[in-house]
Amino acid sequence: MDSTAAAALLPLLIILILFAAPASAATHPADLAVLQDLRKSLTNPDALGWPDNADPCGPPAWPHVSCDHTGRVDNLDLKNAALAGALPTSISSLASLQSLSLQGNRLSGPLPSFRGMSTLRRAFLNDNDFDAIPADFFDGLTDLLEISLGNNPRLNASTGGWALPPGLADSAQQLQTLALDNCSLSGALPPFLGTINTLQNLTLSYNNLSGPIPAALNGSAIQRLWLNNQLGEAKLSGTLDVIATMTNLQELWLHGNDFTGPIPNGIAACKDLYTVRLNSNQLQGLVPPGLATLPQLQELKLDNNNLLGPVPLVKAPNFTFSGNGFCTPKPGGTCAPEVMALLQFLADVHYPEKLVNSWSGNNPCTPWIGVTCVQGNIITALNLPGFDLNGTISQSLVNVTTLLDVMLGGNHLTGRVPDSLTRLASLQKLDLSMNDLSGPLPTFRPSVKVNVSGNLNFNSTAAAPDAQPNDSPPTPATPNGAPGSHGSNVAAIPGNGKKTSSAVLLGTTIPVAVSVVALISVGAVFFCKKRASTPPQTASVVVHPRDSSDPDNLAKIVVATNDGSSGTSQGNAHSGSSSLTGDVHMIEAGRFVIAVQVLRGATKNFAKDNVLGRGGFGVVYKGELHDGTMIAVKRMESVAVSNKALDEFQAEIAVLTKVRHRNLVSILGYAIEGNERLLVYEYMPNGALSRHLFQWKQIGLEPLSWKKRLNIALDVARGMEYLHNLGHHRFIHRDLKSANILLGDDFRAKVSDFGLMKDAPDGNFSVATRLAGTFGYLAPEYAVTGKISTKADVFSFGVVLLELITGTTAIDDSRVGEGEETRHLAYWFCQIRKDEEKLRAAIDPTLDVTDNEIFESISVIAELAGHCTAREPSQRPDMGHAVNVLVPMVEKWKPVKDEAEDYLGIDLHLPLLQMVKSWQDAEASMTDGSILSLEDSKGSIPARPAGFAESFTSADGR
Ligand SMILES: *[C@@H]1O[C@H](CO)[C@@H](O)[C@H](O)[C@H]1NC(C)=O
Ligand SMILES: *[C@@H]1O[C@H](CO)[C@@H](O)[C@H](O)[C@H]1NC(C)=O
Ligand SMILES: *[C@@H]1O[C@H](CO)[C@@H](O)[C@H](O)[C@H]1NC(C)=O
Ligand SMILES: *[C@@H]1O[C@H](CO)[C@@H](O)[C@H](O)[C@H]1NC(C)=O
Repeated sequence: MDSTAAAALLPLLIILILFAAPASAATHPADLAVLQDLRKSLTNPDALGWPDNADPCGPPAWPHVSCDHTGRVDNLDLKNAALAGALPTSISSLASLQSLSLQGNRLSGPLPSFRGMSTLRRAFLNDNDFDAIPADFFDGLTDLLEISLGNNPRLNASTGGWALPPGLADSAQQLQTLALDNCSLSGALPPFLGTINTLQNLTLSYNNLSGPIPAALNGSAIQRLWLNNQLGEAKLSGTLDVIATMTNLQELWLHGNDFTGPIPNGIAACKDLYTVRLNSNQLQGLVPPGLATLPQLQELKLDNNNLLGPVPLVKAPNFTFSGNGFCTPKPGGTCAPEVMALLQFLADVHYPEKLVNSWSGNNPCTPWIGVTCVQGNIITALNLPGFDLNGTISQSLVNVTTLLDVMLGGNHLTGRVPDSLTRLASLQKLDLSMNDLSGPLPTFRPSVKVNVSGNLNFNSTAAAPDAQPNDSPPTPATPNGAPGSHGSNVAAIPGNGKKTSSAVLLGTTIPVAVSVVALISVGAVFFCKKRASTPPQTASVVVHPRDSSDPDNLAKIVVATNDGSSGTSQGNAHSGSSSLTGDVHMIEAGRFVIAVQVLRGATKNFAKDNVLGRGGFGVVYKGELHDGTMIAVKRMESVAVSNKALDEFQAEIAVLTKVRHRNLVSILGYAIEGNERLLVYEYMPNGALSRHLFQWKQIGLEPLSWKKRLNIALDVARGMEYLHNLGHHRFIHRDLKSANILLGDDFRAKVSDFGLMKDAPDGNFSVATRLAGTFGYLAPEYAVTGKISTKADVFSFGVVLLELITGTTAIDDSRVGEGEETRHLAYWFCQIRKDEEKLRAAIDPTLDVTDNEIFESISVIAELAGHCTAREPSQRPDMGHAVNVLVPMVEKWKPVKDEAEDYLGIDLHLPLLQMVKSWQDAEASMTDGSILSLEDSKGSIPARPAGFAESFTSADGR
């Protein structure tokens, strides 16, 4: 028909329609029969309210019935009508039915087949008690938009439930809503759900479904996906990867299943999500940031999974997350860097089941499977050989800075060995054998034992030339130290016994908490020859701030390794002769300033022969002033410094110069010019206690007698007590250890190296701080949380006592045979000290334990040491207590009378004045006068701090 003809017919059509519409035809006999059947099959037909003899299509139409103009029933709306009984099988004969609402009744018996109801668009059969559904129920429902069978819990229950019939896919090509909750559906989710492109709302909660979300749902336009609370033994499982592709999702309820794996990062693409319930599954790993920031999110439930890492900050008003392995108790917190690093490692090996449940919380030493620690909180090894690990080795391991051993042999790891591992400064062993890794191997320090044998794709020729050969047996680590760093003149100086290297190992952005670099002490070569034949290494770890904006940074750059590569960079750092021509910084509190030239002269221009040791943050030189006074000069490693940093350095020095006690090594002055920063200390002729305990044989010294040791212990206790109670300040040393305890002519001890000292705020006992200190002496709570109190020093003091008793170092690998943790003196001793036999065996053989008096005395000190190294800071005594215990012990050993006199008579004022005089003389003799000289020395030397006398007497008097 052409368009003119159509236009002519149009008015006629309209008239016809208008005429026909209101006047319904008499009900089609077939439909009338169905309605009569329905009436008959109900047990309470009166509930229908249908009259006996009238025409269903009316007029007036029966209640709940409406018809089209041809007299066919097109809508039956019988919801919530309290109907009871069955549905007649003839119902599918309603050939024009578009909408059927029977929900909320008490209908029971089998559902009749709906086969062939090609006009049916909406069918609500939910909330009844049907007990069976025929297999062809969905066949030929070609117009179906929406169907609900939910809450018919007995549907086919007697025959083990029912599966979604494939016929659904063929017929329901326009289906938008499929609501089949709680109706005994079982089996797997059929992939054909993914072929119904129109599907928007799929709700299948409370059934017996199992298996994965089919990959066929990839890209599905579903908006509401409720698969929650499957009731069977086996629930829905597998990963949520496909979810991230369903970007129209608004409601995602998957709770109460067995879903595993991480929440996919891609979920961020589902921007319309407003309710997400993932609780009560077995989801693993970190919560992707994109989930927390979904713009519409109102509700997020993550409870009861195996989620790890930080709890994200979620804007949604309803956010629950309990029952996971999160490392923080509250949203928005941060985890320890080593926790984040290990979790990244875990992610890169695809969250293996075996590890995921164990690697929770914020302390990998709690313990996590495969993570080895000492001291309850310092991670020394990652031990996962033969763990079936797939995936790659994470770069992030570099952030577990304390790692000594990484043992990942016999897995299926692929990819390259990350370069970052070469920056693990403590690393000793790296076993990656029998994996599928590929080369080239990055260049490790020669002392690192690397094993990459059995990686078939590993191109060993591509390995860096100085790397360990792949298949040669691991060579022992280079013995400690380089020659020259502990010659016969090693003495006197803070931090000696360490060997430093440049700060190349440092990042600059790593925040607070644990950043630890191990160094192998040059010290302990000899001490345990008598106990073990293996050459002992003392690994000590210097913990130091990484943040270059850290005001403390200047004084605390400490990195040391055992790779012997450090000397040059250090040399370079100081080789600038420009320092004399450079700017001379005037120092406000200038009375301790010394001209660099004076110190050059005193140290013979920093001659090699004058090196006393390499410690804390630089090289220490012996010096001799004009008048013969001996000094020790620490030449600090050059760091690029701003004026601000310099000011802070000076402020720190100003504080340090106030700390004066006969048992603390005095800082006598300092010099800053250009790149030079020099600290001047009093000279301690007998050097570090560690030498006398661990190296005496090698250096040709006498072993220390028990009496001397007791005196040293008391001296240290007094020095520390003073620090902890210094007038208005409360100082925490943070790095007390035998290498920092220096001995004078008379073997009386002074504590040195205040570079790490922290001024604790009044009233606030613990302050979160950058971790500093030395592995082996670190108090557990400090190592873990960075929270420092004077009790951390007490712990270190306890370790020193143990060294005095046993003559062994704080960390001793020769003890490792008895378990990883026994490396650690405090830990090991704690286990044996109650057993007298073992205690006797542990005592330094140079002490005569057959002498009962000595043994008793040692037992008392062992008791004190145990007390001081208690795990809980609150259980440790304060230093005053230690002094109180030690004073009578020392008395008992009959100290020489005038030794005690000497103690009280010492006057720090005097030598200082002498010193100043000497410098003044030296400078007066210089002609150019360009060097800053001491300004106004009259009255500018700080008097002994006010608290000095009091603390002094109280120390002895208690
Ligand atoms: C489908 O789900 C969306 C939200 O998920 C909802 O707004 C909509 O009303 C649902 N449609 C039907 C027919 O239930
Ligand atoms: C939060 O959860 C409570 C309890 O489940 C519920 O009553 C409330 O409506 C929810 N609020 C939002 C914004 O989802
Ligand atoms: C790693 O892959 C292997 C082989 O593909 C498999 O047998 C093993 O279960 C996987 N391991 C883990 C932890 O997923
Ligand atoms: C190490 O940690 C820092 C800060 O926590 C982080 O920025 C960095 O990406 C981490 N490094 C690696 C390789 O994961």
